[in-house]
Amino acid sequence: MPALVLLGAQWGDEGKGKATDLLGGSVDYVVRYQGGNNAGHTVVVGDQKYALHLLPSGILSPGCTPVIGNGVVVDPSVLLSELSGLNERGVDTSKLLISGNAHIITPYNVTVDKVTERFLGKRKIGTTGRGIGPTYADKINRVGIRVQDLYDESILTQKVEAALDVKNQVLTKLYNRRAIAVEQVVEELLGYADKLEPYVADTVLVLNKALEEDKVVLFEGGQGTLLDIDHGTYPFVTSSNPTAGGACTGAGVGPTKISRVIGILKAYTTRVGAGPFPTELFDADGEALRRIGGERGVTTGRDRRCGWFDAVIARYATRVNGLTDFFLTKLDVLTGWEQIPVCVAYEIDGQRVEELPYSQSDFHHAKPVYENLPGWSEDISKAKTFADLPKNAQDYVKALEEMSGAPISAIGVGPGRDETIQINSFI
Ligand code: GDP
Ligand code: IMO
Ligand code: MG
Repeated sequence: MPALVLLGAQWGDEGKGKATDLLGGSVDYVVRYQGGNNAGHTVVVGDQKYALHLLPSGILSPGCTPVIGNGVVVDPSVLLSELSGLNERGVDTSKLLISGNAHIITPYNVTVDKVTERFLGKRKIGTTGRGIGPTYADKINRVGIRVQDLYDESILTQKVEAALDVKNQVLTKLYNRRAIAVEQVVEELLGYADKLEPYVADTVLVLNKALEEDKVVLFEGGQGTLLDIDHGTYPFVTSSNPTAGGACTGAGVGPTKISRVIGILKAYTTRVGAGPFPTELFDADGEALRRIGGERGVTTGRDRRCGWFDAVIARYATRVNGLTDFFLTKLDVLTGWEQIPVCVAYEIDGQRVEELPYSQSDFHHAKPVYENLPGWSEDISKAKTFADLPKNAQDYVKALEEMSGAPISAIGVGPGRDETIQINSFI
């Protein structure tokens, strides 16, 4: 019963889409377990580039069944347009399964996300504005709308009424916005019901049966460890659990079933949105990483903040996820630097600190302690084996592995499926 979790080890955008797609040919199911269309996963197949937001990246592998688990929040209009966009490009999406227990991002959740951010002003989180936080808030407040509610008009109406009761007070009295009409929301949501129905399933049962039959199931995380609501840089986080435990709750699979947890790790660091980022660069090196790495958000088009590799974060990701492997991505982007600084520890109020501090204030004050590793100038994008890499690139990878606490089992040297050095097999 091989069940693998593949997740972001940093602040998202590590290359999860590419890594998932690479494994897609060898797995039976690819499951999204949290997040929603705040994700932007890029997959490059030959000369075709796909940007997936809500659909699991396994949708591009014909033998694989893509699953949207109960822990995901689903914007039906985004889902349908993503499906039709893929269909127009000749991708068969008919195998998709969506959990009836997944929560729906309603139009009012998107409105609340945007007005809340505006209200926060300079204290804003820099969310993607897709309604993610407010939808999870409704779920926890027990006023959420689930996919299954689309199939009972009376229940749906009662639930939308309950959700809008308080929200309309807040929208009109606090934010000076117009109230949202219950009937309008219900009508829009009912309009999606028939189109989604062929995909709706008891995904918990399907996945557990698949595991009993020794099928291979891959759980594809959105976002990343440091954006986790419990383990990330709260409050500058997303509203779900991208960390490994989230795969169990977000798909209904017990922890004893998970056999491997792969952390996707960029060879440097990026972050989108607000929040602390100790190795962030504001100089020509940061600009060069952004330009060479193409570091622009897939979902919002925002420039990503860039900085050097942070081993403290990588060690933390190993610990909170129980990582068995790393997939190191974008090593090719570092080609051309004479020296590559790597953050090995922090200095906080004059003290050297080796592990991520639990205190938010300490993390805000953390200054990186760098070690310079020698760089390389050779083009590595055609490398197929570890031995093909120049000595200094090999040493960089070995140093990162040593500092991060789990074996680096694959290395990305370009965005394409084939531009990967596989060291240990994942399945
Ligand atoms: P995700 O959100 O984790 O799936 O990552 P994104 O798709 O948002 O961002 C990763 C970007 O890096 C995408 O443009 C990928 O095509 C690209 N990418 C992934 N792996 C590599 C790699 O090894 N080298 C290079 N140069 N680009 C990569
Ligand atoms: P993938 O899956 C990078 C960030 C946002 C913001 C914070 C909260 O492509 O790695 P939200 O809209 O989720 O409430 O925003 O989280 N964020 C991401 N950053 N990659 C992502 O997804 C992200 N999804 C959300 O920028 O700082
Ligand atoms: Mg992304």
